[in-house]
Order: sequence, then C-alpha cells, then structure tokens
Amino acid sequence: MSGRLDGRNVLVSGAARGIGAAIARLFAAEGARVAVTDIRDREGQALVAGITSTGGRAFYRRLDVSSREAWDEARQETENRYGPVDVLVSNAFTMSQPALADLTEPDWTASLQVNLTGAFHGIRSVLPGMRQLGRGSIVAISATNGNETALPANAAYQSAKAALSSLVRHVAVTYGHDGVRANAVHPGGIRTSMLTEEDILPMAEAMATSFPVPRLGEPDDIARAALFLAGDEAAYITGTSLVVDGGASVGTTPPPQEHVS
Ligand SMILES: NC(=O)c1ccc[n+]([C@@H]2O[C@H](COP(=O)([O-])OP(=O)(O)OC[C@H]3O[C@@H](n4cnc5c(N)ncnc54)[C@H](O)[C@@H]3O)[C@@H](O)[C@H]2O)c1
Repeated sequence: MSGRLDGRNVLVSGAARGIGAAIARLFAAEGARVAVTDIRDREGQALVAGITSTGGRAFYRRLDVSSREAWDEARQETENRYGPVDVLVSNAFTMSQPALADLTEPDWTASLQVNLTGAFHGIRSVLPGMRQLGRGSIVAISATNGNETALPANAAYQSAKAALSSLVRHVAVTYGHDGVRANAVHPGGIRTSMLTEEDILPMAEAMATSFPVPRLGEPDDIARAALFLAGDEAAYITGTSLVVDGGASVGTTPPPQEHVS
C-alpha cells in the first residue's frame, strides 16, 4: 500500500460488513485512522480486530445513523481518539422492497430515515469541524438504482438514493470555498448480503454476463473508487457521481457466443 490516506481520520457508517467493511480495510491499509461504525456490534468488532492485527488503526463504535445524537457522539469519540474527522464515508443503508403501490407510509418513512436522513445527520455532524479545518472529503455511497437506472421495486430506496446524490452536489456547491469536497459513488450490482441474503445471486450473476465488464462487482471495486474520491488524487473533483457498475447502466450486450454474425 502507498499511504494515500496517511494521517487522515476517517469515519465510515455501516462498516461492519460488505462495502463499508471493504472501505474500512482499504482505508486503514492506506494509512488512515478509521472509526468503524454500525449497528452490528459483533461484526464491527471482529473487523476492527482484523485491521489492528495487521498494524492498521481502527476502533469500533455503535452508530445507528438514524439518530442525530448517535452521530454526534461517534464523531466526538473519533475526534477524542484521533483528532478532527477529515473524511466521512456515508455508507449505511437499509432495504425496503415494496414498489410504490404496495409501499406503506411507515415503510417509506423508515427507509428515508436511514438512507437519506442518516446521511444528512452524518454530513451535518462533520461539516463544522471540516469547515474549521479548511479541508474535508465526504463520500456518499449512493447507487445506480434511483440515479442512472430504475427498477419496478424498492421505491423508497431508489428515491432516497436519488436525493442523496443531490444532497452531495448541494454540499459541494455550498461548502467548496471552505475546502470541503463531496462526491458520490454509484455502485451497480455488488456481491454483498444485498444480493446473497435476498437469494438472487444466481440471477444477478447470470445478468452480469451481459455487462460490458461481464461480472458482478466486488466490495473492493467500490472501496477503490471511494479511496480515490476521499484522497488528494481527487483534489479537483467535487459534486460528482462516480458510477461503478461494470458499464451496466450504459448498456448490456449478450455474451460473445450469443452474438448473431
Ligand atoms: N451491494 C450492492 O449491490 C449495492 C448496489 C448499489 C448500492 N449499494 C450501496 O452500498 C452501500 C453498502 O451496501 P452493502 O451492499 O455493503 O450492504 P450490507 O448490508 O452488506 O452493509 C450495510 C451495512 O449497513 C448497516 N446498517 C443498516 N442499518 C443501519 C443503521 N440504521 N445504522 C447504521 N448502520 C446500519 C448494516 O448493519 C450493514 O453492516 C449501501 O449504501 C447500498 O445502498 C450496494
């Protein structure tokens, strides 16, 4: 590793597993001090044990992103241990499956509370410190679903992800002069519990054969994109959305053996 985040203090939400865990591991390997936060305490603690056993710096803190107080406490603990937060990765999410016709108001509200308001609380919590510091990088893990694409399901999730990417652009425009950059990553289909727990992995893998890059994404594909946006290599990049989906949202094409000549 090349120390691309040497000396940076990073807070990652939803970091106990999946994409958030890959981000925490990669960022720590690149020299960052990482606050691993989640509501899955055991998995979060195990992740931190793995990171520190290989010389990385990280601690685990329970953080339910739907609570403003929990965000402020987690940010405060990060500051106490490491110093001001340089990088926020807003990654936690919850899935609610219903399409619009079947979506109840409580379902809608619960989804937005985590997927959108959770990021709002996180950004609001770190912004004053970043502005005071004169630098900061916010990376929101959004999705192609709701932005580049739409599906006939997950109406609340998709709406939240579209609003999240919009919020990122708002932050970029409003706080750029204070040295704060904000960007989004838009993953496509990534091999995490989102696909494995729903038992749709075989279908997703079959679909992925028609992507321009003909495979499902891996959590590390997203972690590398987040690393780029978080660090100084992206110093002139703000308010953007980096699509990481193997080209799936651009177009699909049958695997070569099915081409008609
Ligand atoms: N996997 C995919 O195909 C895919 C595609 C597009 C976008 N994404 C995005 O990537 C991000 C990570 O997803 P993943 O696939 O790694 O899922 P995951 O379920 O493996 O990880 C999500 C994490 O968020 C945590 N979480 C849930 N509710 C929380 C809350 N209220 N407070 C704090 N933490 C909470 C979970 O405990 C879990 O550890 C999400 O923002 C998701 O929308 C994933």
